[in-house]
Order: sequence, then C-alpha cells, then structure tokens
Amino acid sequence: MPLPMAEAAPHREPIVVSGDGAPRVHIWQIGCQMNTADADALSEAFAEIGLRPGADLAEADLTVLVTCAVRQHAEDKANAKLGELKAWKRDRPGRAIAVTGCMVGEHGGELLRRFRHLDYVFDMREPDGFLARVRDLYQGALQGPVPLPASDRLCAYLPVILGCNEMCTYCIVPFVRGRELSRPAEEIEADARRLVGRGVAEITLLGQNVNSYRDPDSGAGLPELMRLVDRVPGLRRMRFLTSHPRNASPDLFSAIAELGTACEQLHLPVQSGSDSCLRRMKREYSVAEYLRILERARRRVPGIALTTDIIVGFCGETEAEFEATYHMLETVQFDTVHIQAYSPRPGTAAYRRADDIPREVKSERLHRVLDLQRGISHRRNQALVGSQVEVLVEGLGQDGRPFGRTRQGRLVWSDAPAGAGDVLSLTVTSATAWQLAAG
Ligand code: SAH
Ligand code: SF4
Ligand code: F3S
Repeated sequence: MPLPMAEAAPHREPIVVSGDGAPRVHIWQIGCQMNTADADALSEAFAEIGLRPGADLAEADLTVLVTCAVRQHAEDKANAKLGELKAWKRDRPGRAIAVTGCMVGEHGGELLRRFRHLDYVFDMREPDGFLARVRDLYQGALQGPVPLPASDRLCAYLPVILGCNEMCTYCIVPFVRGRELSRPAEEIEADARRLVGRGVAEITLLGQNVNSYRDPDSGAGLPELMRLVDRVPGLRRMRFLTSHPRNASPDLFSAIAELGTACEQLHLPVQSGSDSCLRRMKREYSVAEYLRILERARRRVPGIALTTDIIVGFCGETEAEFEATYHMLETVQFDTVHIQAYSPRPGTAAYRRADDIPREVKSERLHRVLDLQRGISHRRNQALVGSQVEVLVEGLGQDGRPFGRTRQGRLVWSDAPAGAGDVLSLTVTSATAWQLAAG
C-alpha cells in the first residue's frame, strides 16, 4: 500500500541552495541490491530534474537516506545516521534531509516526530510526489537536466520483479516491499539495451524472489526472460538474484548452461539445514529437496558457484537443529555463505514467538559457522590455483592493480596491465578464502 509523502512540519526551515549552480544531492544507502537499484534510479531522476547527484555529504544541499529494515542492526544504522545529520544540517542553513527505503512504511511518521531536522519521508515505490516537491522547492536553482556523473559503472542491477509473496515467518520484506509484481519483459529488455548503450557490461536481474518472475502478458518465466536479455547486443554477462528454492527449475539451470552471457552462479538461500526449523520458518522445502536441487544444478552447469544465506539462532533453534545446519554446510561445500543472527521483526509471524536464543548462543553459533565456512571457501579457492578464469575488470585499486570478478562471481586481483571493461583470461596464482590473485 503506497504511503503518501509526509510533508515537512511547519516548524521546518525553508530550503535554500547555497552558492551557484544546481543543488547537490548526497544519497546514503544500506541494505540489499534492491536498494542499490533504487538509489541508482533516484540519482537518474534527480539528474533529470536538474539536481546533481553523487555529491559528497560535505558539499551536499540535500541528503537522501535509502534505508533497510531486514534486521534491527540496519535500522540502528539509519537512526544513527539521522542523528549525525543534525549537525550537518546546522552547519549550513537551507539544507534538507529526506528518508525513503524499507523503514518508511513502518517508521516514517515516527521518524518525522523523533528527528525534528528530518524534512521528508517518501515511499520509494511512489517517488513522483517527492520529486515534484523537490522540483518546486529548488525551482529557481534548476537549469534543466544535468548529465549523470561520468559513470564508470560496468555492472548494473535491473529489477524485474518487485515485492515478495512468500511469507517466511522471520522476514519483514513482504510487508515493506509489498506483493509480487513482475515488470513486462519488453520493458526489461529495453532497459537492458539502454544500460548496455551506456557502457554497462554486466546486468544482474533482480527480485526478492526473482525466479517467480512471470511476464504479465505472456506468462513467460525467468529462463525465457534470460533468453531475451542474453540477445541484447554488447552485453557481456548476466546474473540473477535472489532465487527461492521452490522455483529453482531445471529450465533455469538450462538457461545458465546454454546462454553465452549467463554466468555460472546460483545464490539460493537455504536459511537452515534442519527440517523442523525450516518448517517454523515456513520455507516450504525440506533439506533433502534442497540438496537435490543443488545436485541438479551442479550436474547441469559444471563448475557452477553456489552461495547461500543462513540464519542462526531462530526462535527455538535447538543445538541439534543448529548441528544439522553445520552438517549441511559441510556436505554442500558452498563457495560463499552469508550468515546472520536472527533479529525479531515486529509484525512478522515469528515476532509472536519468544526470541529465546540468548545473544551469546547466537553469537557462538554464528562464529562456528563462519569459521567452518572460512575453511571451506579457502579450500575451494585454493583448488582453483593453476586454472584459467575469465575476469571482467571493474577498476583499479589504490595500488594501480586491476580487480574484477570471474564468471562465478569470485573477486580477482591481477598484475596484468588492464583497464575497466577489459575481459581477461588469466591463470590463478594464489587464493585466500575471499579472493584470488591471477596473472
Ligand atoms: N529474498 C531473499 C532475501 C531476503 S532478505 C530470500 O528469500 O532469501 C536477505 C537475507 O536476510 C535472507 O536470506 C535472510 O537470511 C536474512 N534475514 C531476513 N530476515 C531476517 C531476520 N529477521 N533476522 C536475521 N536475518 C534475516
Ligand atoms: Fe523474505 Fe522469504 Fe520473501 Fe525472501 S522469500 S524476501 S526471506 S519472505
Ligand atoms: Fe533491506 Fe528492504 Fe532489501 S528490508 S534487505 S533493503 S528489501
């Protein structure tokens, strides 16, 4: 349900642009790739109406916070940032602060009350009202569209399905992002062409549950969409995020195997390696089913990188349930695992259960799986030493060395002379748990 933009209260000061030229915008962002895509879309919209996005905080006239609500920690960070911005605003009269992102639905009004220096709150799904207001406010200072900051972005996120229809009991996302809504395939293809025309080499198709994508007209799914995007001339690489095990179909693995741009990588969050815990999480699959999916993926796409998300310390997680997760991680040997301690989210089904795993136990379990996975990731990367990898160079580090990613998504540093956008075939010379060196 879209939330109307909350207006600045009467006590708030007028917004004035300092100095000459177009107002400068600083966008602060936290959370998942959806927020990155939203922040990029905001930058574009600001540039179109004549503001200059990409400004440092120190020089900005307007700061926009794109927030996340998935865990308490993410909310704490946004609250802390808002606190810091009080002094920033006082430093130069006329500055303004807006908040959007996933905290807005639940906390927007409260934030406006609590932080008296906050000027605007708007729903990222309906930014038009806010943008129109900004256009009015800065009217005198706007001189038509400004060029986007010279973008060296080679990799872009492209949202294909918004929202989520799953109801995992721990998760706030369906509440803050709404029901699933797939974008028309034609529109996505046009976006992909536009991005490639602007120099993007790698596109990640995005959705909270990306593999439940269905074209609203034809009903075509993600594999068909991938086939369409794969044909965009000039595109080098395509990935997709995040998949739900329920819709990880053989067709999807065939698309990865057959399409030239499709990268050999699958991020498939499992959350727990215990059936009873999965049931309490309402994940709708068993561990055995999940393992069969991975087996199928590995058989159909040799060398595929498998990554996952894990929550430790979910309500009622027994030592035996935790051990089952530990055991599953040992069995699968994922390339990377994102591990989080359970954080209760008001409004979710699990919120009604006691958050009964003590903080120390959550932390101890978290570190046990982190240690395990560090060893696994290290060994898997070590096994690549001596092999050939394809690297898309994304930029140069401070020491001038090029870095980029393999098709499987592994970070690589190289001594080979190269610049952003180059695609190199390199031999892996050494490896840690987190990255490879190649020459
Ligand atoms: N749509 C994706 C990701 C959603 S949020 C999916 O279905 O997997 C990203 C990750 O945050 C989740 O995979 C989960 O591991 C973690 N997460 C979500 N809610 C959480 C909570 N309440 N506490 C801790 N971690 C959580
Ligand atoms: Fe949250 Fe589950 Fe939807 Fe992922 S699939 S966004 S974890 S409700
Ligand atoms: Fe956070 Fe919203 Fe993403 S809650 S994880 S930014 S969808």
